[in-house]
Amino acid sequence: MSKTAVVTGGSHNIGQGIAIVLAEQGYDVAITYNSRKEGAEETRAAIEKLGRKCFVYQASLQFPTVPQEVMDNAHRDLGHIDLLVCNAANPSARGSVLTATPEFVDGIYNTNFRNYILCAGAAARYMVADKIAGCIIFITSSRAEMAYPDDYLYGGFKAGIKRATESMALDLSAYNIRVNCVAPGATWVPRPGQEDRLKSPFVTESIPLHRVGNPRENGEVVAFLASEKASYITGISVRVDGGLILPGMLEGHDKIPWVRQEWKDSVYNEAMEMVKTHNEELNQ
Ligand SMILES: NC(=O)c1ccc[n+]([C@@H]2O[C@H](COP(=O)([O-])OP(=O)(O)OC[C@H]3O[C@@H](n4cnc5c(N)ncnc54)[C@H](OP(=O)(O)O)[C@@H]3O)[C@@H](O)[C@H]2O)c1
Repeated sequence: MSKTAVVTGGSHNIGQGIAIVLAEQGYDVAITYNSRKEGAEETRAAIEKLGRKCFVYQASLQFPTVPQEVMDNAHRDLGHIDLLVCNAANPSARGSVLTATPEFVDGIYNTNFRNYILCAGAAARYMVADKIAGCIIFITSSRAEMAYPDDYLYGGFKAGIKRATESMALDLSAYNIRVNCVAPGATWVPRPGQEDRLKSPFVTESIPLHRVGNPRENGEVVAFLASEKASYITGISVRVDGGLILPGMLEGHDKIPWVRQEWKDSVYNEAMEMVKTHNEELNQ
C-alpha cells in the first residue's frame, strides 16, 4: 500500500516544494490550491513525472465546510490518509493593532488558524477510523517565536498553532498519531527579474546563513518528521530558518529599530482617520 499525503496550498513556493519532496519519497499526494490552478498543475506534472499519483482540488480553506470536503475527497481518491501537511495560509497578513477591524481579524483567523484546526480534525478522524498511526504537520513560522511590531495577528496565530500542536500531540497520542510543526524563516524562489533581492543586506547580513531558504528544505524536514526515523518525535517545532531568529536581543549601541518611521506614519494616519470616522458616527 502506497504512503499517502495531503498538502494544503500545494500550488506555490513552500507547499509545492513539500509536495514534490514527498512524492520523491514515495508518497501519493493530494494537493489544494486557492486561486493559482496553473501552479497546482505544475506541481501535479512534477509529481506524475516521478511516477506518483497527484490529485488536485480547488479549496478556499477560509470557509468553514471546506476543510472537511478536502479530507473527504482526499480519502476517497487516495484510499487512506497517512500524512496531513497544513501549509495553506496568507503569509502577508501584517498590520498594526491601531488599525484592527473585525473583518481583518476574522479573515486572518479563518485562513491562518481555523483552517489548520479543522483540516487536522477531519484528517485525524479518518486516521482514527482507519486505525492509521498517521502524522499531522503544521507549517508555522519563525514568527511564532519572535515578536515584530506589524505581526500581532500573523505571528500571534502561528504561535497559537505551535501551542495547539502540543495539546493535539497529547490528545492524539492515544491513537499513535504524531503532531509536529515546521517553522520556516524567509523562504522564497525569486521570480525572474527579482534576483537582486537575494543580494540585499537583509538576506546576506541579517540571516546568519547568508541566504534565504528554499521550499525543498522545508519539504525535507517534513519528510523526515513524517518518516519512521522520527517515530519517537511528537509535539515539537523545527525551525528551518538559517538561524534568522537566533540573534534575539540586540547588543551594542545601535538604536533598536522597533518600528520603522514610514510605517509608523502611515499607520498613525490611518488610525486617526478611523478615530475621526468613528467620532462622526457617534455624533450623528
Ligand atoms: N515564504 C516564507 O518566507 C514563509 C516564512 C514563514 C512561514 N511561511 C508559511 O509557510 C506557508 C506557505 O507560505 P508560502 O510563502 O509558500 O505562501 P504562498 O507562496 O503565498 O502560497 C500559499 C499557498 O496557500 C494557498 N492559499 C492561500 N490562501 C488560501 C486560502 N484562503 N484557502 C486555501 N488556500 C490558500 C495558496 O493557493 P494559491 O496559490 O492557489 O492562491 C498557495 O498554495 C504559510 O503557512 C506561511 O505562513 C512562509
